[in-house]
Amino acid sequence: PEPEPARPEVDLAFDGDVAIVTIDRPKALNALSSSVLEALDDAFARIADAAASVRGVLVVGAGGRAFVAGADIAGMAGATPEEGRRSAELGHRVAARIEACDAPVIACVDGFALGGGLELALACDFIYATDASSFGQPEVRLGLIPGFGGTVRLPRVVGPARAKELIYSGRRIGIDEAVEAGLVVRRFADREALLAGARETVAQIAQNSPVAVANAKRVLVGAAGRSTDEAVAIEVGGFAEAFGTDDMREGVAAFLEKRSPGFSS
Ligand code: CAA
Repeated sequence: PEPEPARPEVDLAFDGDVAIVTIDRPKALNALSSSVLEALDDAFARIADAAASVRGVLVVGAGGRAFVAGADIAGMAGATPEEGRRSAELGHRVAARIEACDAPVIACVDGFALGGGLELALACDFIYATDASSFGQPEVRLGLIPGFGGTVRLPRVVGPARAKELIYSGRRIGIDEAVEAGLVVRRFADREALLAGARETVAQIAQNSPVAVANAKRVLVGAAGRSTDEAVAIEVGGFAEAFGTDDMREGVAAFLEKRSPGFSS
């Protein structure tokens, strides 16, 4: 008999103006093999093609136990430094795609977000999570270090000292500590509430100018990690650019005329 066609490990669905990216490899707690990373890269390329109609992206893990439990450890046995480099570069390519996505990307974490899984969540604009979630960079327990941006983005979000403590200890933190650290911006009782909350946020975003939201994201992403002078110059550039947009003329006119704006769609 013909072999069964492989089940897609990443599903992309569009629901109105929301794109939902589901990592669906529950038997390995959604671990990021190179085929999952390639599929994520492809999903975000398709979202970029549909950019005009997407106002928010939710990234979720299937199976109910994990967002993503890390890079795929099974594929690491016997791997060479060159293979390690290629794996990291692929992870960074996915992160760059997420950061280049015009619409905000919300990591919706329900369960484990570990190693490359936490790094994937950190490449998203912000993290929403359920009470059942846990977070960590356990790579040093494997003789590794974070490879998909953990040393870069975790300190930006939780501060360098806390990032060092988490990366050196490899310990897992629960939702209370993750919220307290600013890693998770909103917590929810369960998955259903999490997805409803994330959709509500996308609905709020969708009331604003899509051009302005994309502009704000470009500036925030572009300025991250730069010197104050460079970051300010990037903001000034984005602010100036906004003055050349129809959405800015419409938004300001609507305010002055005391009516709702009709932004570009
Ligand atoms: N890669 C590959 N397979 C994984 C995996 C991973 N990261 N995490 C879990 N799995 C697999 C397990 O091997 C197991 O498979 P089998 O049923 O075939 O044995 C299955 O998923 C279920 O996992 P457990 O039986 O271990 O479940 P548990 O409830 O006992 O423990 C866990 C859950 C604490 C998350 C544990 O699975 C775990 O510690 N996973 C690894 C976490 C980790 O170290 N992540 C970092 C990876 S390295 C990395 O990400 C590098 C980078 O920065 C890019």
